[in-house]
Amino acid sequence: MRPHRVRTVRRLARAVVAASAAAATLAFGLVGTSQAADPTLREVAEPTGRFIGTAINDGLLSNSTYRNIAATEFDSVTAENVMKWDTVEPQRGQFNWSGADRLVQFAQQNDQLVYGHTLVWHSQMPGWLQNGSFSNSEFRTIMTDHVTTQVSRYRGQVQRWDVVNEAFNEDGTFRQSKFYQQLGSSYIADAFRAARAADPNAKLFINDYNTETANAKSDGLYRLVRDLKAQGVPIDGVGFQNHLIVGQVNGSAIQQNLKRFADLGLEVVITELDIRMRTPADSTKLQQQARDYRAVADACLAVSACSGITVWGISDRDSWVPDVFPGEGAACPWDDNYRPKPAYEALRAAFVAAGGGDPGDPGDPGDPGDPGTGSCTAAFTVSNRWATGSVVSVTVRTTQALNGWRAEFDLPSGVTVAGGWNGGFSQSGSRVTVTNAAYNGTVPAGGTFSFGFQTAGGAAQDGTAVSLGGQRCAAG
Ligand code: G3I
Repeated sequence: MRPHRVRTVRRLARAVVAASAAAATLAFGLVGTSQAADPTLREVAEPTGRFIGTAINDGLLSNSTYRNIAATEFDSVTAENVMKWDTVEPQRGQFNWSGADRLVQFAQQNDQLVYGHTLVWHSQMPGWLQNGSFSNSEFRTIMTDHVTTQVSRYRGQVQRWDVVNEAFNEDGTFRQSKFYQQLGSSYIADAFRAARAADPNAKLFINDYNTETANAKSDGLYRLVRDLKAQGVPIDGVGFQNHLIVGQVNGSAIQQNLKRFADLGLEVVITELDIRMRTPADSTKLQQQARDYRAVADACLAVSACSGITVWGISDRDSWVPDVFPGEGAACPWDDNYRPKPAYEALRAAFVAAGGGDPGDPGDPGDPGDPGTGSCTAAFTVSNRWATGSVVSVTVRTTQALNGWRAEFDLPSGVTVAGGWNGGFSQSGSRVTVTNAAYNGTVPAGGTFSFGFQTAGGAAQDGTAVSLGGQRCAAG
């Protein structure tokens, strides 16, 4: 991050324009467009030192609109389901890593953190485990072997793990899961020790819901993590899910609760944020929801140990909520048509207010004062132009080998990408993001890749600056 007054003012101006345009989300007519105004959530989150994440539904990664929003708006991803025990080890000793591998690869392609979810949980246990009959010592070994196998596989690639999920009842006593019934509360410490041994650098979390404010359940969780710390059990953080209800969010109570856990020397994370309402949504409810999202984000941003916020899904259409709470939904930051809601703007405004107005991005392709980093050169050539459009070809040379790439540039105001080739295109305000196609993501050091597109609403400018993976390329 570099302080830069001009950039700060420009970014803030963009944010204000974006906020006032919130309701007037434009139909770009471009498949894969996030339809959000500039800057993205990750751009405003990164300067605050916090991550902004989303749960990823593996089945939707083939949807280009979904994929583009996931790639451009977030710098952390959590598997919504594919890292859970029933998916990963459906039969004893037989592992299925396909979905989990896809998530990790997606994150690597898009410079994202991975939040691993989840290793030991009473729900989504495979049948052989749930219904099997095991001695206590065999069961303990099964559990620690599972933790060891999964954490080892992603050693160095998953930065945080929910080691134990939802261990508590509402009254603060331990949930009578199979783990607790057979092993007592010692299963928790054992799971953490196995995870630490498998990846000493991953941060290890315990995660739960209805623990966002001080209550009997969060008091039970507090006592546990305090004791685990005192005993030297390797626990690094606490995840607070935040599956909340519109109009019932108390930001200061959330902040105070985060703080008391942080004061134990633990990292805290908002791990599964969504805020549901009775459906259908209307503007009054959406405005209240925006205030509630803002309150949660502000609570995290006010606590220095709160390292990030993950939303539990991108679009209302893909959320788990209506399946579990009939008549409720509309809980996510994007609506059924992948248009950003007021809640999205509220999240962004929270990061801007916390210092995200100046991403200080050295790769900002819109910054004419940035000379580039020398790790890439880019030739942005307008090969044909007319009153309302143009054809552009871009060739980027990289000094470093790439396994997946993300290029960004700005088009003049009002100019949009009408169609492109050799990449996946999304546009947010004037900023265009292009990610590699399936066939051109691997580029050797010193190699080049190219893509092209046509514009509508006006012509692009020859020589427009391009950044690669957040690093501005020199003209070339
Ligand atoms: O994969 C099967 C598919 O083969 C089958 O045809 C289909 C029929 O219902 O079910 C599919 O499994 C579903 C799975 O999601 C994958 O889509 C399960 O039924 C469904 O219950 C499961 O729901 C997930 C839920 O956890 C399971 O408890 C939700 O997507 C997921 O959002 C939710 O996430 C949890 C967090 O992990 C922990 N905290 C609470 C949060 C919300 O419940």
